[in-house]
Amino acid sequence: MLIMSIESTCDETAVAITENGRRVLTDQIFSQADLHAVYGGVVPEIASRSHVEVISQLAQRAIDIAGIQKSDLDAVAVSYAPGLIGAVLVGVNFAKSVALALGIPLIPVHHIKGHIAANYIAFPELEPPFLCMAISGGNTLLSDVRSYTEMKIIGATRDDAAGECFDKTARVLGLPYPGGKHVDKLSQAGDDRKYDLPRSHVEGNPYDMSFSGLKTAVVNLVHNAEQKGEELDRESLCASFTRAVSDSLLPRTMQLARELGYRKIAVAGGVAANSRIRADFAVAAEKEGFELFIPPLSLCGDNAAMIGCQGYYEFLAGHTAGSDLNAFANMEIDQ
Ligand code: KG4
Repeated sequence: MLIMSIESTCDETAVAITENGRRVLTDQIFSQADLHAVYGGVVPEIASRSHVEVISQLAQRAIDIAGIQKSDLDAVAVSYAPGLIGAVLVGVNFAKSVALALGIPLIPVHHIKGHIAANYIAFPELEPPFLCMAISGGNTLLSDVRSYTEMKIIGATRDDAAGECFDKTARVLGLPYPGGKHVDKLSQAGDDRKYDLPRSHVEGNPYDMSFSGLKTAVVNLVHNAEQKGEELDRESLCASFTRAVSDSLLPRTMQLARELGYRKIAVAGGVAANSRIRADFAVAAEKEGFELFIPPLSLCGDNAAMIGCQGYYEFLAGHTAGSDLNAFANMEIDQ
């Protein structure tokens, strides 16, 4: 089954062609990062307009590179929630037009389910059930992946997403947007014990997380140092910060895997590209004999192949949409 898939929830426009879910014929990604860098973050209006400008050309290029005809397509899948609403609408409307023009099914895909599905592309042997920590720019979720399409959120951030926290840390240190990868790079030369930063404990649910206290602590530390004219050890601040994020993610994931009796743990989303977080999960999984799945860096950030992969499983489960499909800024993964 050949699926064209569309991703436009934030600042990447992407169109992929996948076969039977896991085989990627092409994944065309246009990153708008340069357009937003000057503002230090994503400007929603600019994001929407840029998606409108490039999406048709990307789709044509995907068809050409995959070496197929439009008439070969069996369905079109689209990331329809959550995301910047104007941006998501561009992809949803484009996918509806493709479905209408070619007379093929339209498959709505939850963006975070797509991130989790990136693991199916990277690891052909992976099948649910497993536990997944999904960490991206807008979401931080610990999910019980019960089947390809049914997931249950067991824990989530109560405030900022881990990626937002990386981006804010980068911004306050004057690093370019998007900042996560720059914080990652600097932290590799730092002492992760130099700065004492808070770890959150959230009342009520041991698997919920909070990153706003950590974010505020970093901002205060930088501002205080500036006011006193003190030089900060930026590498060590990045390393101490990243260790604090990892300390919020890893123990909860391990504890829940033990509690649920799962042997398979996956990590997904843009922040899964972080070298320290990858290494910490690898060491802990090896120690306890868990099987660990983290996509290669190319599949951690937003892409359309992951939407095509999840779209395939949604289609098999009978989850298609009519021409009245809408886009949603917010939607729980288990809604
Ligand atoms: O999954 P993603 O591409 O977009 C969303 O769906 O949100 O995630 C983007 C986030 C950004 O916050 C970015 O700074 C962060 O992932 N990120 C990283 C790294 N690479 C990207 N954070 C930490 N370390 C990295 N190496």
